[in-house]
Amino acid sequence: MKHALIKAAAFAPMLAGALLASTSPVLAKTAAKTAYDGVWLFDDTPPTPGVTMMEVTSKGGKIAGSVTTKWYGPIEMMNPHVEGGVLKFEARNLNDRDHLTRQWSVAIESGRAHLKGQIWESEVDSTGRPGTAKDAKARAFKFTALPPLGAPIPSKLAATPPMGWSSWNKFADHIDDKTVRAMADALVSSGLRDAGYIYINIDDGWQGERDAKGVLQPNAKFPDMKALTAYVHSKGLKIGIYSSQGPKTCAGYIGSYGHVKQDADTYADWGFDYLKYDLCSGEWFYADADTVKRSYYEMGKALQEAGKRTGRDIVFSLCEYGRFDVGSWGRDVGGVLWRTTGDITDDYPTMAKIGFDKNGNPAWAGPHGWNDPDMLEIGNGGMSADEYRTHMSLWAMSAAPLMMGHDLREMSPETLAMLTNRRVIAVDQDALGVQGKPVRKAGSLEVWAKPLSDGRVALALFNRGDSAAPLALTPADAGLASVDGVEDLWSGAKAGALPAGYQVPARGVVMVAVRGTK
Ligand code: GLA
Repeated sequence: MKHALIKAAAFAPMLAGALLASTSPVLAKTAAKTAYDGVWLFDDTPPTPGVTMMEVTSKGGKIAGSVTTKWYGPIEMMNPHVEGGVLKFEARNLNDRDHLTRQWSVAIESGRAHLKGQIWESEVDSTGRPGTAKDAKARAFKFTALPPLGAPIPSKLAATPPMGWSSWNKFADHIDDKTVRAMADALVSSGLRDAGYIYINIDDGWQGERDAKGVLQPNAKFPDMKALTAYVHSKGLKIGIYSSQGPKTCAGYIGSYGHVKQDADTYADWGFDYLKYDLCSGEWFYADADTVKRSYYEMGKALQEAGKRTGRDIVFSLCEYGRFDVGSWGRDVGGVLWRTTGDITDDYPTMAKIGFDKNGNPAWAGPHGWNDPDMLEIGNGGMSADEYRTHMSLWAMSAAPLMMGHDLREMSPETLAMLTNRRVIAVDQDALGVQGKPVRKAGSLEVWAKPLSDGRVALALFNRGDSAAPLALTPADAGLASVDGVEDLWSGAKAGALPAGYQVPARGVVMVAVRGTK
């Protein structure tokens, strides 16, 4: 308990001002002064945030306390006071600017503590039984200090944006060894591997428990990780895994908190080539730029060392939803891609919001470091062909990682053709690595340009409106004085000059590469 309290103080500077004023709980050794004093144990609470214990003490009429959770460790009671026979306090909240704190309450009912509160999307309404100081010690959250930031550790991997498949968008955490192998098989038989999609990434949901030495084991759905990575490698593919720097991943599985180096070694020993590291519950502990950055650095460094030891390069994918201008420091912590947004979903408004407006600052993108507007939804069925074509075109123009997220066994010929269009993929994978950007906007129409290594310029005409609209491209859109060659990238049709105009379908796109003189 004492140990935990000292560590808690170390985290204090990053917490809200109000929290600083609160007093850490000290277990009352003398007789309880209020009905709330003591240790209360919660055995059967919902997994999120996973309340395990409440500690309350009162000294000289002043109440102090905390609620310990599996997701966030101890949540300190702010301004605890008794009102109408109920202990009321505020607690720091998450991801809600309108509610930086939430009101919580405790009522003692038949010798049990009835705790109610909210944190982010979780509701707490649970009853705890009295416990002892020994229980409190056993349930105390074990804090780990972050190491300081060392010299930058830029990676030499991913000269072009990574391409592959990830389990999350289609399967969420209903993923298993058999399905991963089936996806590897389908990646090869469909021709997607040969089109450039080489990563098979297991997202959240593979984790089991830690063994006595703290080594994380996969759950029963993944009986043999070494055999699985060997199988995927035997197909000429690479394989990725997922974790969080928090105690819990976003889907509530065990994260790497307190076990960062150990986990990096485990992934490397199993044979993984890629780690997506998702902030999730870590956002409680690492709530400012400095600590978020250090938490990524800690894993980035551990991965590079584990990779050196095992002779395997490990791609480090940062997922903290674009906070703290991540592109400006992503490379320094060993990252080669970093998410720029919250999660994509399989609908046009969300995809468009991300792809057009939240795809990251182009200044940070280039060989070995890419803005990641999240994985593809193409093939999942929630968008029309024009909308999915816009999705693919936007990601290609943005030099974004192309991580498919559908069931590769159930793909229509149209989906496959869209994902394997070699001209569009070439724009994404262009060696210059320049992230394209809008050069002109006219109502719901946007013209984007991306210079290519063969001297041409890729232009995309996007129609964000709900009805088809005409627009003409001009040489100036490509920074040229005149154009003498035009290739339609979706159809492959070639012409010697720009046409008088294009009819752009509703929520659709026209994508070309032009050649000319400056
Ligand atoms: C977060 C990430 C997603 C996915 C889930 C897994 O929401 O942003 O991409 O990895 O977690 O729980």
